[in-house]
Amino acid sequence: MRRITLTQFLVGRQQSNLINADLRLLLETIARACKAISTRVNKGALAEGLGGSATSNVHGEVQKKLDVLSNEILLEANAWGGNLAAFASEEAEKPIPITEPYKRGEYLLLIDPLDGSSNIDVNISVGTIFSVLRCPKTTDGKYCEPEEPAFLQPGNRQVAAGFAVYGPTTVFILTVGDGVHGFTLDRETYTFVLTHPEIRIPADTQEFAINASNARRWEPPVKRYIDECLAGADGPRGKDFNMRWVASMVADVFRVLSRGGIFMYPRDSKQKEGRLRLMYEANPMAFIVEQAGGAATDGRGRILDIQPKGLHQKVAVILGSRHEVERVSSYHQ
Ligand code: F6P
Repeated sequence: MRRITLTQFLVGRQQSNLINADLRLLLETIARACKAISTRVNKGALAEGLGGSATSNVHGEVQKKLDVLSNEILLEANAWGGNLAAFASEEAEKPIPITEPYKRGEYLLLIDPLDGSSNIDVNISVGTIFSVLRCPKTTDGKYCEPEEPAFLQPGNRQVAAGFAVYGPTTVFILTVGDGVHGFTLDRETYTFVLTHPEIRIPADTQEFAINASNARRWEPPVKRYIDECLAGADGPRGKDFNMRWVASMVADVFRVLSRGGIFMYPRDSKQKEGRLRLMYEANPMAFIVEQAGGAATDGRGRILDIQPKGLHQKVAVILGSRHEVERVSSYHQ
């Protein structure tokens, strides 16, 4: 079988005018940074600086050293290419504009450098999530200053999104708006090879993913949906459901892309806005899931249509197999 590398895939997309040269370079650079993070994650406890508390991030969470390192790897890799106006990272309060001596470009990059980082020390998959927007222009055709307002665009304006999972294999999932494609890192040639072309999520599923320890705080529509799944063949759904929860969104969403399922992190009486970040987690994953034929909602409306109010805003997330997501949405009506 002819192997198609990520580079060849992106050149093909550029030749079909789906992406320009700057976006191709940006995506290649992100993928290269993910390889470096993968190598580092793979060293586990052998790598100096893994785990252990370092500093606190803007959400008051303890950052593992590997979070900081992954953030640095992504920022350094992308700073000089001339294709970015600024980055925003889940690990930094404010956007980081590209400054001299580097040239500014037309794109804005949002990254969650190490998603699921509480799983690092226990040898469970973690990953990197990214989202790409265009820097808006002013009325006289110049690019806006790439500060927070420039980033506050709904997810339906994303030009690309993807994520890497550092698991038993490292996979890189990508959409540029023409479907979803998955690549596996070949550690011998150190290249990403297309292994999951044209990913489609089945519309029906019998598998759900939710952190059930929050059950007592869920809103009634979520409680009803999960209760019905748990009742299985004896309940109103008339079929048994399976449950999975990795607690790394990248791994849970990769499973949904691979075999279907519904992933939920709803709002509840304690986490009133939800737990996941709109700009760094929900929007890129919603774009990917929709491009694979699935659906993504916060219960009340399409995630990709939410007008963000802040860079670190949180949101409820219900995504995956279309018929199940529609059912949960209907329970919210
Ligand atoms: O937002 C980070 C994250 O680790 C996600 O990747 C994951 O889905 C979720 O938090 C896990 O949350 P909990 O710790 O409540 O299971």
